[in-house]
Amino acid sequence: MPTELPPHHPDRFDEGYYQRFYGEGGAHDPVRIGHLATAVHEMAAWWGVPVRTVLDVGAGMGMWRDWYRAHHPEVAVVSVDVSEHACATWGHDRRDIADWRPPHPFDLVVCHSVLQYVDDERIERAIDHLATGTRHVLYLELPTANDLQHTVDADLTDMHVYRRTGEWYRTHLRPHFQQAGAGLWVKHESAPMYELESLDGDHRCA
Ligand SMILES: C[S@@+](CC[C@H](N)C(=O)[O-])C[C@H]1O[C@@H](n2cnc3c(N)ncnc32)[C@H](O)[C@@H]1O
Repeated sequence: MPTELPPHHPDRFDEGYYQRFYGEGGAHDPVRIGHLATAVHEMAAWWGVPVRTVLDVGAGMGMWRDWYRAHHPEVAVVSVDVSEHACATWGHDRRDIADWRPPHPFDLVVCHSVLQYVDDERIERAIDHLATGTRHVLYLELPTANDLQHTVDADLTDMHVYRRTGEWYRTHLRPHFQQAGAGLWVKHESAPMYELESLDGDHRCA
């Protein structure tokens, strides 16, 4: 993998990148994504927001898209990725989330392990685009600076990424979403949430 390229350079995400991080014992696999996707889909149902459309941003090998195709073929899934290799191999539309504003909102947006690759100059735009693209629920996962220092396995994790604090992400996500926990962010004015259901509580009541 050409690590001399900056973390956000699209050419980083070549065949070697996916072999390195998604091969044997890699970051995650279809079985684990299946557990997660089931939970996310069912939490949305619990909140009363049926998932009919999904946008998978930085879809990589397309595991979320494939899970939806197998388990909910009625759901329309759009998968996008900045990598030429990923798009050619796994059939996504080639988009950079920092430059591309989704043309309409999707019920569920998945952005799984992607934002750590967006540089500081463009990260706020990428979050704005995710918010525009989300009608109800955003599933967001990424390693923060603290995770990279204390939590991840440095042998299995791509450490050549941009490091921002959890507080930085919360500050930029809160104008759009309530943080429900476990990677789930619920768009304001979407599903009403009980105060203790959300990590932010509902501060909008007088
Ligand atoms: C760690 S992989 C995650 C793949 C997939 N989301 C998963 O969790 O299995 C990161 C993916 O994000 C893509 N990516 C990185 N920056 C991006 C950007 N600005 N816009 C869209 N995709 C991006 C990469 O090409 C790569 O496929």
